[in-house]
Amino acid sequence: MKVVISLGGIFFADAEGIKKVAEVLEELAKSYNLYVVTGGGEIARECIQIARDLGANEATCDYIGIALTRVNAKLLISALHNAHPEPFSDYKEVAEAKAVVKSDGEEAKITVMGGVSPGYTTDAVAAILAEYVNADLYIDVTSVDGVYDADPRRYPSARKYDKLTAKELVALTTKEVLKAGSRIVIDPVAAKIIERSGIKTIVIDGSKPQNILDAVHGKHQGTEINPE
Ligand code: UTP
Repeated sequence: MKVVISLGGIFFADAEGIKKVAEVLEELAKSYNLYVVTGGGEIARECIQIARDLGANEATCDYIGIALTRVNAKLLISALHNAHPEPFSDYKEVAEAKAVVKSDGEEAKITVMGGVSPGYTTDAVAAILAEYVNADLYIDVTSVDGVYDADPRRYPSARKYDKLTAKELVALTTKEVLKAGSRIVIDPVAAKIIERSGIKTIVIDGSKPQNILDAVHGKHQGTEINPE
């Protein structure tokens, strides 16, 4: 079974957070073919804001965000024992690397990549990767516990969805403003890719890395997005 995991920036604040999530990923890689995409986190947002204050346009800010997602990819790889040594920057290279599996039954190595190009976030990168490699499951691990009808950090009365169709997700996300470093749970490009690919997607809270294991095993308290 192929699983693509998008890791939000929350894990990359310190070595402890990275170690904890790396342990869970190593555990999963024993049974699943694992593809990981790393987000930029707070440090990306801070750098983007500095660039914006200096007058940089949004595409330039996006490139700054991408650079930070790749730094986080390298940090995660530093904590993994069974990963390809460098972050990938292209979907085809990831698929090719995965195709080279040792014949002696050795586990396939975990592939890690950050951002790819301006105009979207690593949620979309992970969705495109999931589509390209025909993944069975896409898990978006973020700092909120699912998809809401409004940002729960700003609107305490926001309602969480336990389940959504991909079409409903697209309708919810198209009203979002897609600026560099924006705090949206799933970006609209990712939602469209999820819709067209039909890949089952689960959005979960990453504050406990154990939640990732549970989600892969079908137990989660996040939002599940299914094709209609
Ligand atoms: P993230 O994908 O980490 O943004 O990339 P995010 O999902 O909002 O952050 P998390 O999940 O909370 O950590 C950071 C920024 O890098 C740029 C975007 O500006 C994005 O907001 N980016 C990233 C791109 O332009 N293209 C990419 O492929 C990836």
